Amino acid sequence: MPKSVEISFVRSARPSGLCVLLAADGAKLGAAAADVDPAGALARAIRVGGFKGKARTTLDLLVPEGSAADRIVVVGLGDPQKPQPDGWTRLGGAIAGQFGKASKVTVWLDAPGATIGGAEAAAVAQGMLLRAYAFDRYKTKKGEDDNGDDVKAVKIAIVTSAATEAKKRFVAADAVAGGVTLARDLVNEPANMLGPIEFTERAKLLAALGVKVEVLTEREMKKLGMGSLLGVAQGSTRPPRLVVLEWNGGKPKDRPLAFVGKGVVFDTGGNSMKPASGMEDMKGDMGGAAAVTGLMHALAARKAKVNAIGILGLVENMVDGNAQRPGDIVTSMSGQTIEVLNTDAEGRLVLADALWYCNDRFKPQFMVNLATLTGAIMVALGQHHAGLFSNNDDLSAKLIAAGLATQEKLWRMPMGPEYDKLIDSKNADMKNIGGRYGGAITAAQFLQRFVKDTPWAHLDVAGTAMGSPSTEISQGWASGFGVRLLDRFVADNYEA
Ligand code: BES
Ligand code: MN
Ligand code: ZN
Repeated sequence: MPKSVEISFVRSARPSGLCVLLAADGAKLGAAAADVDPAGALARAIRVGGFKGKARTTLDLLVPEGSAADRIVVVGLGDPQKPQPDGWTRLGGAIAGQFGKASKVTVWLDAPGATIGGAEAAAVAQGMLLRAYAFDRYKTKKGEDDNGDDVKAVKIAIVTSAATEAKKRFVAADAVAGGVTLARDLVNEPANMLGPIEFTERAKLLAALGVKVEVLTEREMKKLGMGSLLGVAQGSTRPPRLVVLEWNGGKPKDRPLAFVGKGVVFDTGGNSMKPASGMEDMKGDMGGAAAVTGLMHALAARKAKVNAIGILGLVENMVDGNAQRPGDIVTSMSGQTIEVLNTDAEGRLVLADALWYCNDRFKPQFMVNLATLTGAIMVALGQHHAGLFSNNDDLSAKLIAAGLATQEKLWRMPMGPEYDKLIDSKNADMKNIGGRYGGAITAAQFLQRFVKDTPWAHLDVAGTAMGSPSTEISQGWASGFGVRLLDRFVADNYEA
């Protein structure tokens, strides 16, 4: 599938190239079908193919008899009276999945019984952009598909009676897609190309959108007493960075919303080293920081009317002669001491200082942190929900609702004093691992010790932000999980 897609919205079009039609349940086609398929080839194909118009199913017809189209693809909408969660974006993804070698595509957004306005059309377009994304930066033969065939850019015309409104709505939808794309790029980038400094350079590019970017170096972090974060970084020759992103689109007096991301550019496990098999995936251990960066891009690009802070804790967890040892005791910025019993439980050590700093400096309305924090959350929830841990029911409800709306789903996990006790340490204020059970929960309890009473939510996105399964709108591995979710969360609750 071509990576570069160009989308326009029009009120009408003549059939040519690849023509995409929608069909409602019962394979009911809209009015455009008569134009695209004057000879009625579709009726026969629908019958022979047993096509029913179920949501996101497809029927493909090559060089249809008597038609000006090279190809007709019919995509099912399902029951127009029963909208599906995130249905329009997923429909767009399903349509883009059928592009193949086409360079010119026309999509008629019309089906009997369906009301498809500008917002829906813009969502369909966003789904197309997301599905078309591929990471081909290091392929020297650009634009070739698996057969070695040339597939370059594709031009898509979306035909809708709401073309003007769609064009308007697409500005924001496109901004959010840009944020998802940025997050995916960061996650896909190999660690040799994206260390803390290179990540920082990427984050600085957000300045072009009006985001204020501040960077704390090792020296400044030392001064602030961030011994927890710095302990993780000390085994790498590449120094850590703490990036502060600020988007001020709200009223000056509004307290900011804060988002904090784990940005471990590579996680070897340190001296508590990970096994070799599958370690390459740990280039994606900055998925939380990538999502925060993508979110800030989205908010700024669509000029969201909120004040938001994004904080990225960027480190590399490596092993050299100076690397942290199991048993080491570090002092965090909060003053609390931590016994590092496992150097592979490093994400929480990074976040401890990042969360404390965020709270201390910005006094935000709330903090949401994202982190590829534990394998245990994947054992508990698989890869179709991220774990949600929170000290606040209202914040949790809002996040869960945004998750359902975007299909970046969250499942709330328990917390409590019984779990918290499991990270008490004999030799320091706490240790960085609990016992054998409830590993995702003890990790969350650890983070909670650094947020005071500020409303806070921790999203454990191991398994959803990286190594994630393919969907209609993602070709897999790096999903950009969190960007659409949090953009929606912000739009629905804080921009009224
Ligand atoms: N980055 C990993 C968690 C992870 C595992 C993310 C698999 C994505 C896929 C994290 O730093 C880690 O190593 N966690 C340990 C914690 C343990 C040592 C308490 C884990 O989950 O095994
Ligand atoms: Mn680790
Ligand atoms: Zn990690």
